[in-house]
Amino acid sequence: MSEISIKGLHKAFGAVHVIKGVDLDIADKEFVVFVGPSGCGKSTMLRLIAGLEEVSEGSIALGGEDVTSLTAPERGLAMVFQSYALYPHKTVRENMAFPLKVAGLPSAEVAAAVERAAAILQLEALLDRKPKELSGGQRQRVAIGRCIVREPKAFLFDEPLSNLDAALRVEMRVQIARLHKQLAATMIYVTHDQIEAMTLADRIVVFSEGRIEQIGAPLALYENPSNLFVATFIGSPKMNVIAGADLASAGISFTGKRPMVEGADAGSIHSYGIRPEHMSLKTGDTPGKNRLVGEIAIFEKLGGDSFYHVDVEGIGTVVARTLPTETFEEGERVTLSLEPQHLHAFDDAGRTLTYRAED
Ligand SMILES: Nc1ncnc2c1ncn2[C@@H]1O[C@H](COP(=O)(O)OP(=O)(O)O)[C@@H](O)[C@H]1O
Ligand SMILES: [Mg+2]
Repeated sequence: MSEISIKGLHKAFGAVHVIKGVDLDIADKEFVVFVGPSGCGKSTMLRLIAGLEEVSEGSIALGGEDVTSLTAPERGLAMVFQSYALYPHKTVRENMAFPLKVAGLPSAEVAAAVERAAAILQLEALLDRKPKELSGGQRQRVAIGRCIVREPKAFLFDEPLSNLDAALRVEMRVQIARLHKQLAATMIYVTHDQIEAMTLADRIVVFSEGRIEQIGAPLALYENPSNLFVATFIGSPKMNVIAGADLASAGISFTGKRPMVEGADAGSIHSYGIRPEHMSLKTGDTPGKNRLVGEIAIFEKLGGDSFYHVDVEGIGTVVARTLPTETFEEGERVTLSLEPQHLHAFDDAGRTLTYRAED
């Protein structure tokens, strides 16, 4: 069993406090994705789990065993980085065999392990090539193969696909999803790619400044973010955020909302959030309840859907998503209808207030 249990984890580099109290339980065979802004501590978390950095405070357990004071080789985890770090003068076969040779395994066993990993990663035809004769995606597969042969307790991936071009990323993303199913191994995966996070994760962990903001299944985070940070971090384009007072000045009232959490009342709402797909667009000025009127500033037509950036007086730019069949012109006056059941409300500390909106 390879469950990972992290308790009260802190890490400081000298005076710089980077990880500020992380508690996290990862189940055996789970695929957990870490996301968060650059510098929030994702790589440091992986390095602490792998045993490549010393813990300042707290504990890490693997499969029920406290490994906090064990070295990286003793923990038996595999880490895959953005840079492949393959040996340039060794063939694919030799690169993949290397960790097992170093460990002193008999050569028949090494050969069998390499064949197995090559089959999983579809590298059989490339075993005698050198890294320079491979594409970026193939090199990254070799780097993963070098991990697979060791049968690690868990895989730690640190933005493994960020050096690849867009088409290869998509292909490798699907490969990693299949790999997870095939190996049934615990995986932690760091990415800044929204689609990778949403599609690969059993659960996403959102980090900010060395702390966990929220943990949950991808759609749970998307639909029920527990704060403004998560609400605007998950989803692309971002959730629109509108200050409560600005909405009031635009002649819109949400006084019909009834609080569903004790102690919260409509007066504590500081801002509202609404995702681009939860609004509809119509030509012309037709103000009314749950509506905003504005002018099309720019649009982005992606084929499958379109994004219209609408300048609303007193509020700013609001982005709405439409079907490609709905077309509007730049400068056109339009009315945005907000779906009240999809409005998010936040207090002045950015915490989500749970309200039920009135149609
Ligand atoms: N060895 C180190 N010495 C000092 N500061 C470090 C060291 N490693 C990371 N940091 C700092 O820790 C913070 C988090 O870094 P990192 O974990 O790499 O972030 P992320 O992977 O989320 O972008 C950054 O401010 C970084 O400068
Ligand atoms: Mg990093």
